[in-house]
Amino acid sequence: MDVRLAMTGFGNVGRGVAELLANHREEYQARYGVRLLLTGVADRRGAVVDAGGLNEVELIRNKQELGSVSGQTAGAGRPADEAFLIDSRADVLIEAASTNFEDAEPGWSLIKSALNLELDVVLASKGALVLYYSQLMTLAATRGKTVSHSATVGAPLPVLDVINRTLVGTRILGFEGVLNSTSNVILQAMTDGKSYDEGVRLAQEMGIAETDPTLDVDGWDAAAKAAIVANAAFGSSLGIADVSREGIRTVPAAEIEAAARQGEALKLVSMGSLREGEVVAEVRVVRRSRSHPLGRLRGSEMGVLIHADPLGDFTATVENLGASGGIATASTVLRDVLNLASRRGWNSDRRS
Ligand SMILES: NC(=O)c1ccc[n+]([C@@H]2O[C@H](COP(=O)([O-])OP(=O)(O)OC[C@H]3O[C@@H](n4cnc5c(N)ncnc54)[C@H](OP(=O)(O)O)[C@@H]3O)[C@@H](O)[C@H]2O)c1
Repeated sequence: MDVRLAMTGFGNVGRGVAELLANHREEYQARYGVRLLLTGVADRRGAVVDAGGLNEVELIRNKQELGSVSGQTAGAGRPADEAFLIDSRADVLIEAASTNFEDAEPGWSLIKSALNLELDVVLASKGALVLYYSQLMTLAATRGKTVSHSATVGAPLPVLDVINRTLVGTRILGFEGVLNSTSNVILQAMTDGKSYDEGVRLAQEMGIAETDPTLDVDGWDAAAKAAIVANAAFGSSLGIADVSREGIRTVPAAEIEAAARQGEALKLVSMGSLREGEVVAEVRVVRRSRSHPLGRLRGSEMGVLIHADPLGDFTATVENLGASGGIATASTVLRDVLNLASRRGWNSDRRS
């Protein structure tokens, strides 16, 4: 069956989704029984819609040559609003636009419209999840729809999938994860004798740090991820404001050198646990031995260690990542879409 996708954002992630669809549509159809069609796409300049399916190659070319998916070279095109979702006849909204931790826009308004229109939602952006978690999940449940968000935590690391599937039936006692690549690259560079500023420049050259890396180095991104993982692990409804947080800006070089001399590394770790029945989520700079699953992660590598009863310790890491961050995240977004299609039985229904 055809599954129609409306998507906001055509940056690293959105373009990655378009590339994967252009290159693998037939393969997905043969393997998973659904034909994924991008029927609406929006960037900051405006939206473009074709309920019969947009041509991804054209979208990528328009973005490269004209700066906008809609081919709009100046001014604003049609907005990504409720009419955009209706006209694209979408089954699923993929939200992959930039976001913030103040009002979660532009995503939050469109996500609410999508759920009210009875679309399922797949998120790459974290804003709505960490500002409006309860409202978001209640609205989805009321409408009988789902909000998948595997890509929001260390994509392509399968943290949420492990919690939601692999560890079903166990009791999660706690977790700790290196989930912010920028901080790990900077701390690694400092361990290798470079200054903090040189570490920031290196992360920017690698294309993983923003020009303004505040959200990464002050622990905001790691705190958002701590809240998202805690909610999955413990069934809580934490927001970013509930996570106590520290960043790496003020870590003394001497402390990093001392740790290195003792065979340890400093890591910015997102953690969560149950303390006297309360869910506690935090972000801390902690020492981990080089033989610890998180201590050995270098550069942009990511990992999570989950303590589960009765399984013991479960570790997942992504090392030697073969794809760029955007493609890896896009692939995680499509994993959510394909899993959703299977849960909904869209692969067995012959509607087209
Ligand atoms: N990169 C990753 O690996 C990764 C991993 C996990 C989660 N995420 C999250 O996924 C989202 C996308 O990341 P990214 O790396 O693709 O970011 P990006 O390269 O900066 O792209 C952001 C996109 O959002 C679009 N946008 C901004 N405001 C918009 C609006 N009002 N309406 C429609 N589109 C709008 C931008 O439009 P213009 O192109 O016109 O500027 C751009 O296409 C972010 O929320 C990010 O935090 C990213």
